[in-house]
Amino acid sequence: MDVAIAGASGIGKHHAKWFHQAGARVVGFLGSSEERVAATSEALRAIFPFTGRGYWDFDRLLEVERPNVVDVCLPNGAHYDCAKRALAHGCHVLCEKPMVWDPAGAEQTLARARELVDLARRADRRLGICTQYAALLEHYLRLYQPVRGPLDGIESFYAEMETLARGRFRSAEEIWVDMGPHPLSLLLAWKPGGAIEPSSLVVELRGSEARARFDFSDASGTCRCEIAVRDLSAGQPLRRFGVNGFLVDCSGRPDADGTYCSVLSTPDQELLGADFMSLLVAQFARSAVEPDTLPLVPGEAGLRNLELQLQILQSA
Ligand SMILES: NC(=O)c1ccc[n+]([C@@H]2O[C@H](COP(=O)([O-])OP(=O)(O)OC[C@H]3O[C@@H](n4cnc5c(N)ncnc54)[C@H](OP(=O)(O)O)[C@@H]3O)[C@@H](O)[C@H]2O)c1
Repeated sequence: MDVAIAGASGIGKHHAKWFHQAGARVVGFLGSSEERVAATSEALRAIFPFTGRGYWDFDRLLEVERPNVVDVCLPNGAHYDCAKRALAHGCHVLCEKPMVWDPAGAEQTLARARELVDLARRADRRLGICTQYAALLEHYLRLYQPVRGPLDGIESFYAEMETLARGRFRSAEEIWVDMGPHPLSLLLAWKPGGAIEPSSLVVELRGSEARARFDFSDASGTCRCEIAVRDLSAGQPLRRFGVNGFLVDCSGRPDADGTYCSVLSTPDQELLGADFMSLLVAQFARSAVEPDTLPLVPGEAGLRNLELQLQILQSA
């Protein structure tokens, strides 16, 4: 499988490495200029045996390399155009979160996201979204069940997520746009058919924090949700999730062999597993060749995530 990474100098360079580790050939990447492409090629070669070529013209990349998969790791506002062109070229598309973000507003954003889902369906191509915390569920249950027993129902959902500000200032709204998809993807992994009860929704965008409280209902009942995302000026960012009051902290560190792992912990237990994004990338690579394997987060789930993200933002 031949993969091209659109935007490989930030998070995209890790995507390239994860595709390589999943057995794919990274044939090329897109950068913003000849100079940036040279620097990114070097950065890629430093983390895995990269032999592909860099481009600063996407059409030329598609024509010359003919990738089976395009992985979109560009800034949010550029996801739509790149994903659309890649799908039109017959590629499977893995796209960073949020799937689409359009400065023109929510209506345009959702229309474009729906268009991508529709294009992928009509072209019979995979469309996957990079909200990797959806891979956490199975690991979470391995901590939950020995303590609480089978997870029969969800009465409450809690997610708190911090990111280091690294000297930049972002408004609470910008923080929500960036980080909101992660807790929402966990909630949707648990309750894919759920919807927010509009009258229950309370949203606070204050300083460097966005917080939302709401009731989330599906056929199995209603669950009380609280989500907070914030920028942290210094220290160790917290990522805490859970249902029914059983909360786990999520972090990462290298294992004994030096491979970066995810770590889920409670005050009493710790569980090491594969990095969630590497799991998501590997599953996407499989989904592109195996008819019975779906992306961990398909485009339809990314679209639903975006609808909830915007619903929350609009009621702030
Ligand atoms: N799932 C997650 O946990 C996670 C984590 C981090 C980021 N993300 C998402 O990943 C995306 C990228 O974030 P990032 O932090 O990697 O951003 P970044 O560091 O700013 O990287 C953006 C990338 O896009 C390329 N690019 C920008 N403008 C371009 C243009 N006009 N033409 C061609 N290439 C262009 C840049 O290439 P040059 O270097 O050549 O300019 C760079 O490789 C965002 O959507 C973000 O939300 C997700």
